[in-house]
Amino acid sequence: MISEKIDIKITRVATSKLDNAEGLELQFGKIFTDHMFVADYENGQWTKLEIKPFQNIEMSPATSFIHYGQSIFEGLKAHATDDGEILIFRPQANSARLNSSARRLCMAELPEEIFLSAIKTLVDVDRNWMPKGEESSLYIRPFMFGTEEFLGVKPSGKYRFMVILSPSGAYYSKPLRVKVETHYARAMEGGVGSAKTSGNYAASLLPAREGFEAGYDQLLWTDAKTHARIEESGTMNAMFVLNGKIITPKTSTSILPGITRDSILTIARDWGYEVEERDVMVAELKNGLENGTLTEAFGVGTAATIAHISEIGIDGTDYKLPSIESREFSNKMASYLNNLKRGRENDTNNWLFKV
Ligand code: COI
Repeated sequence: MISEKIDIKITRVATSKLDNAEGLELQFGKIFTDHMFVADYENGQWTKLEIKPFQNIEMSPATSFIHYGQSIFEGLKAHATDDGEILIFRPQANSARLNSSARRLCMAELPEEIFLSAIKTLVDVDRNWMPKGEESSLYIRPFMFGTEEFLGVKPSGKYRFMVILSPSGAYYSKPLRVKVETHYARAMEGGVGSAKTSGNYAASLLPAREGFEAGYDQLLWTDAKTHARIEESGTMNAMFVLNGKIITPKTSTSILPGITRDSILTIARDWGYEVEERDVMVAELKNGLENGTLTEAFGVGTAATIAHISEIGIDGTDYKLPSIESREFSNKMASYLNNLKRGRENDTNNWLFKV
């Protein structure tokens, strides 16, 4: 529940950009709505909670996050129901993860009430931006960064929390060819891999580009020490159907605890599937690809939802997976999740948050 005591000042645009948005082609994260949410943390308190027209932000070149990377973010989605209501999927889980990232990056935490109120009010103010179509949603990007001005290495004493919205289409437009990465690492045990912090994404860019130049859409990251265990994929967690069981790497300090990952595992267990969260070895995937027991592979994440993997490259050999149409579990789950988020299924886990 949101308490009424969260007071957000709202300044609306004079003219909506939507008036000129006719026929815009929706990609992922390229268009932003009319408004944004801003709040500042100073003297141990969150203050100046405000929704205002989407605009540039001005800051000192000495702002600490630019130099030392105290910067964290979240991603979640709002969907329209068939009756035109708006539902946000599991925002409490994103609030909890933002605070877990904040603790790891030594940043201020944000009360859940402010997080939920900011998102709900902003989505409501920009509700006309909800795109139509089964592939589309209103992507919500909350983020926080250190704003104190100094050059010594220490935690910032001031932070800014913001939320922006982007009407978005599908993140991936086709099944993915992925490469098992055995040279670079995304994260290591004891590092910040389980926090949703900007640097993890920066670290992934060069390896991803090299993979792309070699013909792969994404990477399957392995552990930094031995490169023998699968960790996650690109912007998503990774799941497989091996010998009829759903398997996925167990979370650790080097794997992001995905909310879509958790949702899928919960639903799969409810449906009676055997689910294993454990070490997933590259060798067993290779074996499963060779003997046909690896029947499905897919990435799971908020932006991508379920992204089918069509081919996996291991040590220079590309292995094709069975056709997308044959994939019973991931197809059924993708369709169920889409319907659940649009209010067409019973919300038995209380995951939907009405705007
Ligand atoms: C999300 O799935 O929301 C993400 O944060 C991935 C993103 C980096 C595009």
